[in-house]
Amino acid sequence: MTPRKIIIDTDPGQDDAVAILLALASPEDVEVLGITCVAGNVPLDLTTRNARIVCELAGKTDVKVFAGCDRPLGRALVTAEHVHGKTGLDGPDLPEPTMPLADGHAVDFIIDTLRDHAPGTVTLCPLGPLTNIATALTKAPDIATRIAKIVLMGGGYFEGGNITPVAEFNIYVDPQAADIVFKSGAPIVVMPLDVTHKALVTAARNDAFRGIGSPVGIAVAQMTEFFERFDKEKYGSEGAPLHDPCVTAYLIRPDLFTGRHINVEIETESELTMGMTVADWWGVTDRAPNATFMNGIDADGFFNLLTERLARL
Ligand code: BDR
Ligand code: CA
Repeated sequence: MTPRKIIIDTDPGQDDAVAILLALASPEDVEVLGITCVAGNVPLDLTTRNARIVCELAGKTDVKVFAGCDRPLGRALVTAEHVHGKTGLDGPDLPEPTMPLADGHAVDFIIDTLRDHAPGTVTLCPLGPLTNIATALTKAPDIATRIAKIVLMGGGYFEGGNITPVAEFNIYVDPQAADIVFKSGAPIVVMPLDVTHKALVTAARNDAFRGIGSPVGIAVAQMTEFFERFDKEKYGSEGAPLHDPCVTAYLIRPDLFTGRHINVEIETESELTMGMTVADWWGVTDRAPNATFMNGIDADGFFNLLTERLARL
């Protein structure tokens, strides 16, 4: 099978970093056309820095990394240094990147790439707030029908939220953008907290990363060790949930995930529930399904895939 062409839209973030590494390690499954950065976990100057650090760590300095939107559509930027540290990629001691950013704006790259490829051949993989994707859809509505699929990390139903009682961080940061994306008509697959909170890096799983013995394996182990303190404290969980790698793992092994095709709407008005993904899991409305909302993961299969692929870099 020819590899699926993807654009990774991201705000690294240690878990974004692992998602990117998994994609870069899997050229037979995915061809990374470009990485588009957005403000989210940390401001844009740091997400563009971190994305390049990750490419250099993987030895893939030819990947195009673009800077995108530096703030949400209608709200002030909320960041997550309390989870990811001051740089967004705290944990390993990695060198400052030397590869340059690609010329042009991330949003234009997304639009041009979708227009330059046959309809239905480019998949978007958002791992952060949906500002870049929504801006592209607003600027160029014709791209909606050209998108093969949007596979995104965001939202939660059974698990509620992680930044507010009901909102997950990526959706909360830019609910207006999420609303545009979920209403776009493009096929959407959602990896919510309901899935990612089942993808926990236990001590044994982290030992497996470290046991790879390469700079990538060791850096990933150090990243997840840093990142896990937040979830251990908050949820009393065994380790860090690897949220964003669920997106790139799905592209390689969709059979590891289960979910339902349902209606998902985004709350954009109530300050109390802002950014909530109102997921009609039980089909109690007659609103048309617009997303495949995942709920199950074969966690051992997922971590085996990650360890096997990361060992290639
Ligand atoms: C999401 O928010 C970010 O902190 C992570 O990188 C992930 O994309 C989880 O809620
Ligand atoms: Ca992210």
